[in-house]
Amino acid sequence: MITQEHHNVPQGLAADAHGRAIPAHVAIIMDGNGRWAQARRQPRKEGHRAGTGNVRRVIQHLAKSGVKHVTLFAFSTENWERPQEEVSFLMELVREVIRSEVAELHRQNVRVRHLGTLDRLAREFRHEIEEAVGLTVRNTGMTLNVAFNYGGRDEIVRAVRRILADGVPEEDVDEALFRRYLYCPELPDPDLVIRTGGEFRISNFLLWQSAYSEFYSTPTHWPDFGPEDVDRALEAYARRQRRFGKIE
Ligand code: FPP
Repeated sequence: MITQEHHNVPQGLAADAHGRAIPAHVAIIMDGNGRWAQARRQPRKEGHRAGTGNVRRVIQHLAKSGVKHVTLFAFSTENWERPQEEVSFLMELVREVIRSEVAELHRQNVRVRHLGTLDRLAREFRHEIEEAVGLTVRNTGMTLNVAFNYGGRDEIVRAVRRILADGVPEEDVDEALFRRYLYCPELPDPDLVIRTGGEFRISNFLLWQSAYSEFYSTPTHWPDFGPEDVDRALEAYARRQRRFGKIE
């Protein structure tokens, strides 16, 4: 239902045909796979498999809703601390997704990007990621950003190192310059960060970019987070008053 409160979209932000604010960029922390499996007395792996199966329907629904950029937190720099078996399984799952989905994403004019470092990844895996990114680089539809082997602090530290290595004079370092050293400088900041699985924390995700993002947490575990849940999150976003630190 479109109500009056939806009609206060600040200038420069996207809106749908009814004047309802639509986030241009939605970033998602896909949490709760392990608990989803536990609740079904299944191994954690099955939760990750079900979570992977959920990615396509959520992306399709976000695209249909007019969202232009989606970023998914698939593997953090801290996830290496999980048992070796789970780490290998998650790597293998992401490789499977790349192999099975990239051709179709390319056909749908989706640009795939990677946020994170390729360090520590097997050589063939690195190539697969680079190929997926290269294949879709000129696509003009939605961008799908996969944060894989990604950490927000790690991204910031790497940016500082490269600024120093480039010999940038101190007086030239400002927010605009700093942004150019992030993994995807041209990607707009997320308007909405969704976290499934019930926690209320950012967990080292997009630390710089989420400074003014609206945060939405739902207890629903990621494998169960379907199109209606996406709609609820978008509805909640449309009702928020974004002020970016200003009074109005
Ligand atoms: C968090 O659940 C989920 C992860 C650490 C992995 C998420 C990755 C996928 C769903 C694969 C997606 C693949 C692509 C290419 C986007 P958890 O294990 O922390 O769950 P818990 O908190 O219930 O234990």
